[in-house]
Amino acid sequence: MSLMQQIRTYPVPKHAVALWWFGQNGYIFKTPEGTLISVDLYLTDSCSCLNPGFNLSRRVPILISPEELDVDIFTCTHNHQDHTDPETIRNLRNKGTMQFVGPHPTCNVYQKEGIESGRIVPAWPQCDLEFRDVRIHGTFALPTDTTDLNHMGFVLAFGGGPKIYITGDTDDTPLLHEAARHSPDLMITCINGGFNNLSHWEAADLAGHIKPKVAIPCHYDMFPDNAADPKQFRSAMHIKAPDVAYHEMEHGKPFVYFGAR
Ligand SMILES: [Fe+2]
Repeated sequence: MSLMQQIRTYPVPKHAVALWWFGQNGYIFKTPEGTLISVDLYLTDSCSCLNPGFNLSRRVPILISPEELDVDIFTCTHNHQDHTDPETIRNLRNKGTMQFVGPHPTCNVYQKEGIESGRIVPAWPQCDLEFRDVRIHGTFALPTDTTDLNHMGFVLAFGGGPKIYITGDTDDTPLLHEAARHSPDLMITCINGGFNNLSHWEAADLAGHIKPKVAIPCHYDMFPDNAADPKQFRSAMHIKAPDVAYHEMEHGKPFVYFGAR
């Protein structure tokens, strides 16, 4: 059975959410009702040709091809190619059954890559969208360079169960603390520091302000020239967010989190 089929058939208990990591900021989340929502799926090696000065060849295997991807809601946090990948979107076979969510520059990519306009839903910081049993709250993210000034993050709320804050790529700013008003249970944060993203230290400081129960590092694994050691984040959390548990995910393996009952 392919990983996509395993995810489709995976049973998620009530008041829980299951998540799978595909490297960088790419995740699929599954609700107890079976809704699948993806974030920032990078399912090609298109970044390898972006800049001859950097080694951006993917290190994480492509665990699901764009052709076999079958989610209900496809989202992206901003318009950098490791998050909104035109080649991934172009090759989706199931684009006629998904909703496509993201900030306007991402919506332009959706349109250019053949998504019908009725399936494209713009998102922005502090927006509030609902699809089946998933609510998407837009959060602020500070752009990391001038190539895209429309970064954002999400707080995903799964039915009456857990909430997950995904920072997206962001520079450090106290404006990120606004996401704490959603009281997320989990926080998934970039920690790489490179290209002006949150460092492990800044990410741990943010975890101390957001106060989730668990913090999960990401965006350190995909590219040789944009890598970091997640253990540094774990160490920084001991100092900056001692009450927040650290969890490191394995690519392609399910992690089930139970919310308050
Ligand atoms: Fe990125």
